[in-house]
Amino acid sequence: MKVPLVAPSLLAADFSAMGAAVESISRSGADWAHLDVMDGRFVPNLSFGPKMVADLRGCSTLPFDVHLMTVEPESLIAPFADAGADLITFHVEATVHAHRHCEAIRKLGRRPGISLVPSTPLSAIEELLAVVDQVLVMTVNPGFGGQSLLPSCLDKVRRLAAMRKRLGLGFLISVDGGIGRDTAALAIEAGADVLVMGSAFFGMPEPAREVAFVKGCMSGLEPGMG
Ligand code: DX5
Ligand code: ZN
Repeated sequence: MKVPLVAPSLLAADFSAMGAAVESISRSGADWAHLDVMDGRFVPNLSFGPKMVADLRGCSTLPFDVHLMTVEPESLIAPFADAGADLITFHVEATVHAHRHCEAIRKLGRRPGISLVPSTPLSAIEELLAVVDQVLVMTVNPGFGGQSLLPSCLDKVRRLAAMRKRLGLGFLISVDGGIGRDTAALAIEAGADVLVMGSAFFGMPEPAREVAFVKGCMSGLEPGMG
């Protein structure tokens, strides 16, 4: 049975109570906290910067999975590494020298990840697969939480998993956007190892039950505490 890692996204949390939101992620049985950084240019929305990550760092020992949805992500690598990010994922569409930036992230002792939006083909990241720890496949067009998963993106996950096997590589495959009870099993079956969940975590009365559900959804038994 495959048990996914779960990374709740703080984008869906109440921004007036971020410390408590991170603590609720820690208590829920989730594995990472996912932090969406939006610049109003790469995506049509703004979220927060490195100070938020630094201030939240003391609220949890869970790995911080920082997802940069920004142009020129290279300018933000050091600030987010200093702030306490464990994984730093940026978009292949946002920069030319993605390979160099992955090396820079690793040199700072952090784990590099590469992401791609729904319209970007896998060929755009093929040359990076050997130098990343995670590929974050966007399963919605990034910018906002609460959207529905685009089913065509799961085929991309499937092809990426096949590519990983063929190349004998070990990066994690994350899926981000529209993941929850209804879609988790489809994403895991397609090859996802990490489920990012925003509204399906913070929008629910008992987020820990959602984590247990998606972690148990491939068991063939009544899932988790669902
Ligand atoms: C979307 C962000 C996601 C978002 C997911 O641009 O990258 O991490 O928070 O939210 P849900 O799970 O609500 O689709
Ligand atoms: Zn994200």
